[in-house]
Amino acid sequence: MSRTILRGRVLTFLDEPQGLEDTASYRYLEDGAVVIEDGRVVELTDYSPALAAGAEVVDHRPHLIMPGFIDTHLHYVQSQMIASWAGSLLEWLDKYTFVEEQKFSRQGHAEHVASAFYDELIRHGTTTAVAYCSVHPQSVDAYFAEAEKRNMLMIGGKVMMDCHAPPGLCDTAETSYDDTTELIARWHGKGRALYAISPRFALTSSPAQMEAARALVAEHPDCYMQTHLSENPAEVTRAMSLYPDTRDYTGIYEDYGLLGPKSLMGHSIHLSHREAKVMCETGAVAVFCPTSNLFLGSGLFDYQRLRQTGVRVSVATDIGGGTSYSMLRTLDEGYKVLQLRGQRLTPFNSFYLATLGNARALSLEGTIGSIVPGASADLVVLDGRATPAMALRMSTVETLAEELFLIQTLGDDRCVAEVYVAGGRAKSVLGT
Ligand code: GUN
Ligand code: ZN
Repeated sequence: MSRTILRGRVLTFLDEPQGLEDTASYRYLEDGAVVIEDGRVVELTDYSPALAAGAEVVDHRPHLIMPGFIDTHLHYVQSQMIASWAGSLLEWLDKYTFVEEQKFSRQGHAEHVASAFYDELIRHGTTTAVAYCSVHPQSVDAYFAEAEKRNMLMIGGKVMMDCHAPPGLCDTAETSYDDTTELIARWHGKGRALYAISPRFALTSSPAQMEAARALVAEHPDCYMQTHLSENPAEVTRAMSLYPDTRDYTGIYEDYGLLGPKSLMGHSIHLSHREAKVMCETGAVAVFCPTSNLFLGSGLFDYQRLRQTGVRVSVATDIGGGTSYSMLRTLDEGYKVLQLRGQRLTPFNSFYLATLGNARALSLEGTIGSIVPGASADLVVLDGRATPAMALRMSTVETLAEELFLIQTLGDDRCVAEVYVAGGRAKSVLGT
């Protein structure tokens, strides 16, 4: 059995931090050893030469070893249309997104994009993500096949959409049900792959397709369900006109049985108190996508109100509405969104969200998102001096909180010194 020890400064969260002074919420080792066997963490302890006997030791000092980042919402099929100039959501969807996603009907296109997409995830320190594929089943095959090659725990699914979009991008209630059923059988639980049933949103799913989604969720309770909710005021108005008998946008998904602890509700910005309460009661997750929400002018996520109402919250890039693959850039923009609401996340809370918080949102605590015995050795190694500007600022940093905030505020893929997936080096072997 091969045994590897990663030596360095190590940080992993144990619980959601309750403020800057909550040292019980994390474990930090100044000279730590992450002991890995067969792709899993077997021990996290202080480094000692005795530990090293018979092991390969990789010395990452003075860098910071953390659990790999988790991204809970993005669209891999939008990798070639990120940074498209549009006013707001509905125009952006019509003008760019629905055009771009039709390309996935072409032979070989999905494979090409999936390969480049995974390179970007790794380059930015993201070891698990939850993606929307396109309406085409082959886009899902390409997505999971590439994850399998790289041994990554990835979640995703075929978008279900049967109306109010170009005919080339529409399925039907029946074909979406049949294709999703087949894809779940082919991929869910195969290696590290997990499936997300993915009705795009209420605007592009007819009542018949929503019924199909209901059936799929009921038949596959261990799969995830992802959709978009209340991202943009015009979208909310359109949703209510398409489902006029429903009390609010969240109520549409509620009525079709789509809300539960495995439901990932992208954006969730413009929610009433009733909607937040329903999210809390059902355990559905509100997914905060700050770079996208700013880029598309969608609105300011109300983190504090949702948490106070007991809603589970995760954080995500939402590529290609989002403008960076980097969870560091995402945390930075998230901080600024909350500033505009008079709210402030501590650096500990930000890094908790991108690791253990997102793992909890996916019900995967103990598997990913923390460095504990039994967890997969999916790790990121961060260099807080990666750029001259960072090095200059680091020379005045005195605390771990300051260092994290610096990495979050000035950092990007240049800070990612190395990435491990299931114990194997993943970034330095990219060859680019
Ligand atoms: N709502 C429905 N589809 C999409 C999408 O692809 N991106 C975003 N940001 N919102 C959506
Ligand atoms: Zn999205």
